[in-house]
Amino acid sequence: MTPLHQVIKNKNTKINPIWVMRQAGRYLPEFREIRKLNPNFINLCLNENLSSEITLQPLKRFNLDAAIIFSDILMLPYGLNQKVEFKKGFGPKLGKVNIDEMSKLDEVDFVENIYPVYKAIQKVSKSNIAENKNTIGFVGAPWTLLVYMINQQSPKKELKNNFFKDNFLINRILLILEKFLKIHIKNQIDNGANVIQIFDSWAGLLEKKDLPNYIYSPTLSLVNYVKSLNIPVICFPREIKNYKEFCDIVKPDAVSIDYNVDPKKILNDIKIPIQGGLDPKILLSDKGTLKKETIKYLDIFKDHPYIFNLGHGVLPETDPNMFEYMVKTVKNF
Ligand code: CP3
Repeated sequence: MTPLHQVIKNKNTKINPIWVMRQAGRYLPEFREIRKLNPNFINLCLNENLSSEITLQPLKRFNLDAAIIFSDILMLPYGLNQKVEFKKGFGPKLGKVNIDEMSKLDEVDFVENIYPVYKAIQKVSKSNIAENKNTIGFVGAPWTLLVYMINQQSPKKELKNNFFKDNFLINRILLILEKFLKIHIKNQIDNGANVIQIFDSWAGLLEKKDLPNYIYSPTLSLVNYVKSLNIPVICFPREIKNYKEFCDIVKPDAVSIDYNVDPKKILNDIKIPIQGGLDPKILLSDKGTLKKETIKYLDIFKDHPYIFNLGHGVLPETDPNMFEYMVKTVKNF
């Protein structure tokens, strides 16, 4: 069994597998080289040769336990024919939702729109480099995708006042998302993904009263769907006000924590396997601090099933040598 599966399925506390969010990305010079020649990010995700190569880049350098497919949560709205662009220094920019067109889209057309993503997963999962390692497929949670689809760009710190104004539109989008997220998950699994992570990056923007409607219900439906396919599912409800309540209701197989979570408190609150936590900014400090902070998490979770990861994606300005030092510290613990 792979190390991640040992922790998630068997609750093994003796090993500490490691993978890192955004492990394939701009902090690696070999990624930047490919990126320079491919200024269109969506097209890069849709090039199965390059996206599978990029996915494997960090595994060639570091002793990581999983590959996470080089794609993006916004490939889903793209597959639904919403315009999605990535502007340098600005982030994602989306077109307006055309709900009537979107409601008419069928499964075949959606899958055709993003088919190379599945081909890339197949290539990665069959590669020697990923042997005895997991291939992680992922989706954005319905709430986070809704935020991008309505807001048409990253929301920064808060939602616009009129975000919830068109309730009918929001409910129609959520239904479409639930249907196509399941299709997207199924296709990733059919092509070799053997762990699914659900990223809810904007969970922290919601007030408590809105959590059942926008997070608990739609995420629970996805989690139950992944479980029905016999594949472990990790949820990352970033900055959600109450991780314990989320886990009690949604019951993912493992939960990924952000860097504002107190690891000692969560250890007491949550029984399921835990992942992540370390602040990515620690990788910008010095080796002494990095070692101390890495060991802090490993120590706290030494008797709990734990997958080492960061509390958010690795920053582009990270020195790959520091990344390597972190991986070695985890492996030598
Ligand atoms: O290595 C991996 O983790 C796998 C690939 C991956 C990417 N995005 C590649 C990417 C994954 C899992 C994501 C998820 C994602 N995408 C999330 C959830 C996690 C999170 O960060 O909160 C979100 C919110 C997005 C949307 C998104 N994609 C934004 C806001 C941006 C721009 C911000 C930025 O970092 O530039 C992206 C672009 C993006 N997705 C890049 C990468 C490597 C940078 C692209 C580049 O310019 O080279």
